Amino acid sequence: MTTSTAPARPGTAVDELTVVVRQLRWEAEGVVSVELGDPDGRELPPWRPGAHVELALPTGISRQYSLCGTPGDRSRYRVAVRRERAGRGGSEYVHMFLRPGQRLRLRGPRDNFGFGQAPSYLFLAGGVGITPILPMVHQAAAWGVPWQLAYGGRTAASMAFVDELRPYGDRVRLYPEDTDGRIPLARWLDSLDASTDVYACGPEPLLAGVTDAGSGLRPGALHMERFKPRPKPAREERPVKVECARSGRTVEVPAGRSILSALQEADVPVAASCREGVCGTCETRVLDGEPDHRDDILSEEDRAAGDRMFVCVSRALSSHLVLDV
Ligand code: FES
Repeated sequence: MTTSTAPARPGTAVDELTVVVRQLRWEAEGVVSVELGDPDGRELPPWRPGAHVELALPTGISRQYSLCGTPGDRSRYRVAVRRERAGRGGSEYVHMFLRPGQRLRLRGPRDNFGFGQAPSYLFLAGGVGITPILPMVHQAAAWGVPWQLAYGGRTAASMAFVDELRPYGDRVRLYPEDTDGRIPLARWLDSLDASTDVYACGPEPLLAGVTDAGSGLRPGALHMERFKPRPKPAREERPVKVECARSGRTVEVPAGRSILSALQEADVPVAASCREGVCGTCETRVLDGEPDHRDDILSEEDRAAGDRMFVCVSRALSSHLVLDV
């Protein structure tokens, strides 16, 4: 079993390129997919299931979208966007104004999900959370390993890519909430084989439920991606002195200020996008000191390693940090 594409690890340099909108397609109530290609027909950067890209919209805002096309297809990217009228305007722009032929700047792909090979899989998706899961499903099917998908949505009409999943028959179980209720997470997770890896994406209530119901899974079996940060209780913030090994600067970061904004104000180059600890753009290597991780990306194992952090939200347990910036 091999993937045909190279992973783009979080925090590593990613491509920045111009893409052209090839087509938009209505996928479900309130969901359009957008197909993007290279304006000159060249291959796009490699990606693997679970990766996302950041699109810079002409309104000046950037948004991350999971790639949901065919794994290994470098001739086009596909993303899907749910219209959120109470959102920050990105989805409104895509639905109302984005049209074929339009050019956009794109950064990525970036992979925070870390989809890897396993003897079997359980995929759990809620709403537009199907987007990173869909290529994983196709990849698992291509590998010929056992897998199942439980996919929930508000109504059947609001659930995108159902037709694309239909050929998989009873490996896919749909849960339109208005007729079938929510995904019975405990039932799915309690009966799992110990070697099964679980990948989940969707709104916070689904992921909180997966975390609870999956507490007995073997360490490292559960992989989740969030579009928004988890609600967290307020935590104490202590000042930290940040030594920037590459630029030779030392930056004092007071309580109440993010390390990212202090570094950027001191002209230390650090890329950023979401500024909420979910996209992975600001990942920074830690050379010394003890990070206080407050992101929604790293696993417990990654946190324990302490060798990288997301400086938009994370702070320090030590009074100083040495960062590779
Ligand atoms: S900018 Fe997105 S994780 Fe820090």
